[in-house]
Amino acid sequence: MGKEQTFVLVKPDGVQRGLIGTIVSRFENRGLKVIGAKLITINPELAEKHYSEHVDKPFFTGLVEFICSGPSFAMVLEGKNAVSIVRQMMGATNPLESSPGTIRGDFGIDLGRNVIHGSDTNPGSSEREIDLFFDKLEFSSYERIDEEWLYE
Ligand code: RTP
Ligand code: MG
Repeated sequence: MGKEQTFVLVKPDGVQRGLIGTIVSRFENRGLKVIGAKLITINPELAEKHYSEHVDKPFFTGLVEFICSGPSFAMVLEGKNAVSIVRQMMGATNPLESSPGTIRGDFGIDLGRNVIHGSDTNPGSSEREIDLFFDKLEFSSYERIDEEWLYE
């Protein structure tokens, strides 16, 4: 069974609001495995690379400023269909449109304070972001004891 890895970031608003544990729990409960994690205060250079697809958007400067405004919690999650599962669990980009039960739908109000980032489903996005934020030495490879019951 092909397992995917995806990059997830609890943004500075989520960290300041004490939501790291709640958010990590949701992913763990779903069955996704944390294989790397760290608290990181993102610098503008990294932020600009991370959000380079938005460089020409009017919100780019504000987005970079916000993502650097305090510590974020970065993690790499692994599991079958991890990228899509995380995007579903995050909810729509604008919390006004995110369904209740999603992270943004349960914890967010404003578009620019939407608590969480997760790699999108475009080919190569998750690999690019994982490489931007993590060194291979920061990962642990292990089996969770529930894996034989999680997957058929
Ligand atoms: P993210 O990259 O943060 O996971 O969010 P996303 O894929 O759901 O949305 P994306 O289109 O990549 O936008 C990145 C972040 O920029 C902020 N944004 N502001 N003012 C605006 O019109 C606007 N549009 C997007 C959001 O915080 C979004 O998460
Ligand atoms: Mg995005």
